[in-house]
Amino acid sequence: MSCRNLHLCFTSLLSLVSLATLQAQTAPTLAQHTSQSQEASATSAYKNAALPADRRVADLLKQMTLEEKATMLSGSGWMESASIARLGIPAIKMADGPMGVRSWAGSSAVTNSSANTVKVETTSFPSGVAMASTWDTALVQREGQAIAQEVKALGRDMILGPTVNINRVPLWGRNFEGYGEDPYLSGQMGVAYIRGVQGQGVIPSLKHFAANNEEYERHRVNATIDERTLHEIYLPAFKAAVQQGGAWTVMSCYNKVNGTHCAENDYLLTDILKKEFGFKGFVVSDWGSTYSTAPTVNAGMDLEMPGGPPMQAWLVRPQTQASGNGDGWLTADKVLAEVKAGKITEATIDDNVSRILRVILLSGIMDRPHTATGEVDTPEQQKIARDGETEGIVLLKNQGSLLPLDSSKIHSIAVIGPNALVARTGGGGSSLVRPKYAVSPLDGIKKRAGESIQITSALGVGMEGEDAAHDTPEARANDLKAAADAASKADIAIVVVGRYNKLESESFDVKTMDLPAGQDELIAAVEKANPHTVVVLNTGDPVTMTKWLDTTPALLDMWYGGQEGGNALAAILFGDANPSGKLPVSLPKKFEDSPAAKNYPGQNLEVNYAEGIYVGYRYYDTKNVEPQFPFGFGLSYTTFEYSDLRVIPFVTHSGTVKSEGTLVSLKVKNSGSRAGAEVVQLYVHDGHAKIDRPAHELKAFSRVELQPGESQTIKLQLDRSAFTYWSPQQKEWTLDPGTFEIQVGASSRDIRLKAPVEITH
Ligand code: BGC
Repeated sequence: MSCRNLHLCFTSLLSLVSLATLQAQTAPTLAQHTSQSQEASATSAYKNAALPADRRVADLLKQMTLEEKATMLSGSGWMESASIARLGIPAIKMADGPMGVRSWAGSSAVTNSSANTVKVETTSFPSGVAMASTWDTALVQREGQAIAQEVKALGRDMILGPTVNINRVPLWGRNFEGYGEDPYLSGQMGVAYIRGVQGQGVIPSLKHFAANNEEYERHRVNATIDERTLHEIYLPAFKAAVQQGGAWTVMSCYNKVNGTHCAENDYLLTDILKKEFGFKGFVVSDWGSTYSTAPTVNAGMDLEMPGGPPMQAWLVRPQTQASGNGDGWLTADKVLAEVKAGKITEATIDDNVSRILRVILLSGIMDRPHTATGEVDTPEQQKIARDGETEGIVLLKNQGSLLPLDSSKIHSIAVIGPNALVARTGGGGSSLVRPKYAVSPLDGIKKRAGESIQITSALGVGMEGEDAAHDTPEARANDLKAAADAASKADIAIVVVGRYNKLESESFDVKTMDLPAGQDELIAAVEKANPHTVVVLNTGDPVTMTKWLDTTPALLDMWYGGQEGGNALAAILFGDANPSGKLPVSLPKKFEDSPAAKNYPGQNLEVNYAEGIYVGYRYYDTKNVEPQFPFGFGLSYTTFEYSDLRVIPFVTHSGTVKSEGTLVSLKVKNSGSRAGAEVVQLYVHDGHAKIDRPAHELKAFSRVELQPGESQTIKLQLDRSAFTYWSPQQKEWTLDPGTFEIQVGASSRDIRLKAPVEITH
């Protein structure tokens, strides 16, 4: 095996003597620096919090030895960057996210284990896909803010989120973390989260740059993606979070893209992220994703994580190696050796370090360290978690207006299912938060129903792989019979099905779109026993529904709902809240219908994104494949009318550059009898481009709350970029002048108003 694969093999090759020699050749010695900095300390510009960050960074850099700079390129622990005590540069103390603050003791296997003694209990917010279903950027920003407050309360500085990777395949194990299939929606959610976090002086980490869309062999698989697809589908959410959100850090992903691991992919890190997007923050590697020293540093990787003794201990474990992790390549000794060998320039290291310092200064953690004084899981934070889930639950079917339940007419409810009696707050892996409490659907329904409604419950079927005692033929028959009995005796049956964190998780993909063993049969048995059955999906990835949907009167998707999931579900069931969630992802009828089905997970560690830009509704709506439920879809207990679409083109001038955009306005009226919220979606159709384009693409949206009978005029603005595509020939965003169509509707397949607009520049 070569040294490249055996990362540890030359860790100790460099002696301290050679380090010292190297330093003497390239930079002042530490001793010289110490005396210089003692002299300089009184007047050091970097200490002056009133000066601009860039000026302070430049001053700090001048005072650092090359060795100190090299030290900053790798972590000092599992969740800490290196500190330079001499200059007062603090370590950045990190915590996993994005759906709340997770423990930082070690890898997800360690910190999620019940044996873990470092129990960090914080608010568990709804999964990313649930937050995306709200289409409520203000709420996502509040979530980011609340999470950041908890980060500070625990004395940490950085939260490892948001996840803005696109849902390319229904089986990706981490779809629940991300914001769905559309680049624009994901980008706006990412921007909101970043603003919320950074507004609190906490550092977010936008992840995983750039195309991490399957867990299968995530360290080794190579994703082949053409340039147009990268620019139109996989990069825009990152671009928005960098350019609009001003993201301070970006985490690179594990896999290879077009032949090169993301951590040493200079096309992605330097050409795209730093040059094209103008990213000024630092890039952090995903945990254990580096495989070289000079190529990684030169590609634009600024900080390798994890580092120090915890990394060394983790790296030698057979399991770590078997999964394909790489780490320990940017330690000071290795970096300095490459400087000496002329393979890395000091200017490059200055750039890496400046970026890290800049974020340290911008976040304020050097001037005002986070001293763990705030509180976690406050009533405000809990409310944000509850609001997020309440707005995120999607009503998919409601035949005969079975919902909302009328508590004055109902006397009994049977609450059934493997996800009814326990709170399944999130999927598995590094995002799984340990909350102080979590409300299961059963508890939420019981609390809301009060004394006058009798609540019974039944497991129905054990969750696949969870409890061997429920996995025998006899136990299965008994569980099913008990569920059918309970359903038959109640006015209403509510069946909560789905997956859990051992079937849907980081590190592996979901095996099948079908519900786990026995759940389809459970739904059928309950529906047979009671025609007033509500099915609730409690999972992140889409599931096959064809076996029961036709006979199911009411269907809700609650995703993974965080600790307040049960309360939010009860509020929707009883009509205390009117459902307003809209799907951020198309739900296909079957896996084979999904656009990437034929190109997943790849062969011989090669996955070709051959479906190109036709991801999600771009595929279903262009190729006329009917999904089970389309992107943007979600019912309400009220109805909305759309009217008065007006499209007004405008021109802006920036110097000599003329740019065209469009103002769109329309009226939305709540034409029903309940207050509710509608998500107005604007799609652009380009029927004349010189290149193949999707039927339409989401370019703006607005969530509006309306009282019964109330109307509001919604204004949406599109700039030139809403009409462009990435031209592989011209290697830039290109607009073919002509007539575009503005489409406004309540889902990608429910376009209510259309109007042409002429764009010439
Ligand atoms: C995950 C990241 C996570 C990191 C630290 C990695 O395995 O991919 O999302 O932030 O671990 O726990």
